[in-house]
Amino acid sequence: MVLTSGGTEADNLAIAGLVRPGDHVVSSTIEHHAVLNSCKRLEERGIEVTYVPVDGRGLVDPNDIRRAIRPNTRLVTIMMANNETGVLQPVAEIGKVCAEADVYFHTDAVQAASKIPIRVKEIGCDLLSISGHKFHAPQGVGALFVRKGTTLEPLFHGGSHERSRRAGTENVPGIVGLGKAAELALKGFELKDDRDIAALRDRLESSILRNVESAGVNGQGAPRVPNTSNIYFDYIEGEALIISLDLKGLAVSTGAACSSGAIEPSHVLTAMGLRPDRARASIRFSLGKQNTAEDVDFALQLVPASVARLRELSPLYNKTATQTV
Ligand SMILES: Cc1ncc(COP(=O)(O)O)c(C=O)c1O
Repeated sequence: MVLTSGGTEADNLAIAGLVRPGDHVVSSTIEHHAVLNSCKRLEERGIEVTYVPVDGRGLVDPNDIRRAIRPNTRLVTIMMANNETGVLQPVAEIGKVCAEADVYFHTDAVQAASKIPIRVKEIGCDLLSISGHKFHAPQGVGALFVRKGTTLEPLFHGGSHERSRRAGTENVPGIVGLGKAAELALKGFELKDDRDIAALRDRLESSILRNVESAGVNGQGAPRVPNTSNIYFDYIEGEALIISLDLKGLAVSTGAACSSGAIEPSHVLTAMGLRPDRARASIRFSLGKQNTAEDVDFALQLVPASVARLRELSPLYNKTATQTV
């Protein structure tokens, strides 16, 4: 285990620390930018990267990984849970494919840690990233699990901290917080917190879908972490819905990124085959163990009404509604 400043550093250390000129890497189109941009940096250095696609549910096919592996493939990096949809990848099967091909396997488990139990032996991974602030530890701390015998070139050079794999004085308060948060997350599984959160999420989802037309769950039908729900509301802009809900006290998010003044549709949702307008009409609800049934009721009061109000203002919705009358 190497203690890091968070998930981004853990991902960078796994990828840049392992891959050498002449190697080939396999990743996917739906990774977090901590992985995608690390891979992009490899490509700038002349290293080839193959990005396997996902299906409409957001799932990577382990057979695509098998087919993408070449004699010079050194690393497969596929996330465990997607940060926008919560979709869980078949990491244990991918681990088997990698073991058969004798290729290193890294998984970004930042969104999975504390949401579902993680057993590195069952996954068969050599490297696994986590980030403290995703499970109630302080910000600025994370870790990379490194299987014994895996040699990494450090990102930082200096003292021999972390068994010479990460130079720099350790963030002791953060690390203590990470340990305590991990302990509490384990206790949460004993108390079945994950089951309670899934029940809240399922009620939120099913009630929204019952009460709002032209809406649907992104990643429906795929295994998902219990706390995440990504829902599209056709004919509106997700950003507008977020602002409208935020003003009323409900915090939700999108995977869309604002660059050069335009809202780019999420790379994850478009990789799943969503049209750009539907991807832009999607928002993510995240629940945690502090959320209550009353919070879900509050969200259920707000969301259908806010969607209806935004649709009243949407020329596209009004045109469609008029045409169907
Ligand atoms: C899947 C995933 N990987 C990596 C990161 C980066 O983690 P950090 O914010 O700790 O650098 C995030 C953060 O949201 C994430 O969701």
